[in-house]
Amino acid sequence: MYSLIRNVMFKLDAELTHDLTINNLSRFSNTPVDMLWRQKQLLKPVEVFGLTFPNAVGLAAGLDKNGACIDAFAAMGFGFIEVGTVTPKPQVGNPKPRLFRLPEANGIINRMGFNNHGVDKLVENVKRARFDGILGINIGKNKDTPNERGKDDYIECMRKVYRHATYITVNISSPNTPGLRELQYGDALDDLLGSLKSEQQDLGAKYHKRVPLLVKIAPDLDLIEIKKIAGSLIKNQIEGVIACNTTLDRTVVEGLKHAGEAGGLSGRPVQKPSLEVIEKLSEVLSGKLPIIGVGGIDSAQSAKDKLAAGASLVQIYTGFIYQGPGLIKKIVSGL
Ligand SMILES: Cc1cc2nc3c(=O)[nH]c(=O)nc-3n(C[C@H](O)[C@H](O)[C@H](O)COP(=O)(O)O)c2cc1C
Repeated sequence: MYSLIRNVMFKLDAELTHDLTINNLSRFSNTPVDMLWRQKQLLKPVEVFGLTFPNAVGLAAGLDKNGACIDAFAAMGFGFIEVGTVTPKPQVGNPKPRLFRLPEANGIINRMGFNNHGVDKLVENVKRARFDGILGINIGKNKDTPNERGKDDYIECMRKVYRHATYITVNISSPNTPGLRELQYGDALDDLLGSLKSEQQDLGAKYHKRVPLLVKIAPDLDLIEIKKIAGSLIKNQIEGVIACNTTLDRTVVEGLKHAGEAGGLSGRPVQKPSLEVIEKLSEVLSGKLPIIGVGGIDSAQSAKDKLAAGASLVQIYTGFIYQGPGLIKKIVSGL
């Protein structure tokens, strides 16, 4: 069924397809029409961050940036859902076209640039959703906020989403906001994480609620950089790490249509680079904090590889675009 729908959708512009899908999922969620995508949630519980995840397969950030279709994704049987990246102010993102399919490689290139309706709108949507499962909210900074004041944006988002999130992801690894990835290094990272940790403690006391803080990193990191990041995560008592975001590397897609487009590459081409980062990270962290593995997961085997490399949970995005909701069942049942 999904392959038929996909054949039609893949004839349309990628972002138009995305918008049509999100609009319809949002509109028909919690109506009889949702039987089109509803599937039984497979239960294979996993304990991570002191939380019980019904299964290990989550929706990765960026598909539901505004939290507009949380109930629709929940109905598909995900073990957890991550919405965002959201920024304090709404922003339009980069000029279109900015989303490209690379079907020969089962990949996608995007340079969306954190297009989103702003944190207030996301909170409104989250409040309206009926979902009572595990919801991650992924936060970022506005493009026009200089890095020196970047932490103010993260703190503003954190304050607004804290009560509504099961965990919060600090996204410092999108390649599409100029300078954002610089926050992954050295003093800038320590300073950001230290401030966010102290904010988390204040908010925890205020709301009597513990919300784990996770950091999402890029796949384009060498061992020395991974060691430094891991050191900073441990030092600042960050609860988890998501590896990885999209890659800037084009080696494996060279020569394919759209391969030269600027932005982050996801899907099968990032499967191996992401796995390598998880392996290194896991060795360096030696179990001190859990890893959520993401990048090119498109089968039970590729999910198992991430778990074997040291991840406790996985997320999917591009594989889900290519295979639809059936991929969730396929992975969970194969684990
Ligand atoms: C179109 C698109 C938009 C994305 N937007 C975000 C985002 O807003 N925030 C984020 O943390 N990751 C974002 N990502 C990255 C995904 O969450 C994921 O980390 C990455 O695509 C690798 O997983 P995959 O190979 O399963 O897609 C985006 C990915 C794609 C393809």
